[in-house]
Amino acid sequence: MDGNGRWAEQRQLPRIFGHRQGVETVRAVVKECRALGIPHLTLYAFSSENWGRPAAEVAALMELLGLFLAQELETLITEDIRLRVIGNTALLPPEVLQVLQRTIERTAENSQLVLTLALSYGSRDEILRAVKGLAAEVQGGELAASDIDERRFSASLDTAGLPDPDLLIRTSGEMRISNFLLWQLAYAELYFTDVLWPDFSADELRRALDDFAARQRRFGLTSAQSASDS
Ligand code: FPP
Repeated sequence: MDGNGRWAEQRQLPRIFGHRQGVETVRAVVKECRALGIPHLTLYAFSSENWGRPAAEVAALMELLGLFLAQELETLITEDIRLRVIGNTALLPPEVLQVLQRTIERTAENSQLVLTLALSYGSRDEILRAVKGLAAEVQGGELAASDIDERRFSASLDTAGLPDPDLLIRTSGEMRISNFLLWQLAYAELYFTDVLWPDFSADELRRALDDFAARQRRFGLTSAQSASDS
C-alpha cells in the first residue's frame, strides 16, 4: 500500500493525511474482495523497517490502526470476515495489541474472507524466527533435521495455514518486493501500478484482477504442460 506520503505531499498536506486516505482505500478494497468472493487478502500495513520513521508518523499510524480496528469490528462480524495478523506483533503498542487480539478472537469463526494484516512485518525476520523455532525443536529432539521439508517450513512461518499468494499488487510505481512474503511469493504473479494507494479503488483492483486472469501460470513447467494441466 505504497504512495500515501506522496499523495499527501502532492497536496501540500502532512503525510498522515495520505495514510488517513489510505485507510479509506483499505475499506474499499476489503469490501470489493468480499463482494468478488476472494477468499484471502493480505495487506502490508507496517513493515519492521517502518519503525525507523519519525516518531510522530509511527504514533499516528498506530493510532490510525487502532481506530480502524475498533471501527471495523462490527463490519467484519456482519460481513463474515476473519482478521489475522502476521509480523512481530510483540513490538506493537499495548493498546493496539489489545484491540488487535480482541478483533482476531471475535472474528475467529468467520470464513468468507480472511483479511491478514502484516504489522511490524519483515519477511527476513519472519524466516529467521521460523528457523530458530525449528532449530530449537531439532535441539530438543522433537524433530529430525531431515524431516524439515517445504511443508514443514511453511507451517513454521507466521502465514501457517494461509495459501501462498496468487497475486501481489504494489502501488505507486515502485517495483520492489521490499521484504514482503519472500518465501510465499515464489510463484505469485506480480502487478505494479503507478496509482498511489490513496487513489487505488475497486475499479483499480478489478483492473489488476483482469490482468492476472489473462496470464499463463506455468509453475516451472512448459506452456504445453501447464495448458494440459488446467
Ligand atoms: C506506505 O506509503 C504506506 C505505509 C507505510 C502505511 C500504510 C498504512 C495504511 C494504509 C493505514 C493503516 C492500515 C490499515 C490496515 C488500517 P508511504 O508512506 O511509504 O508513501 P510514500 O512512499 O509516498 O512516502
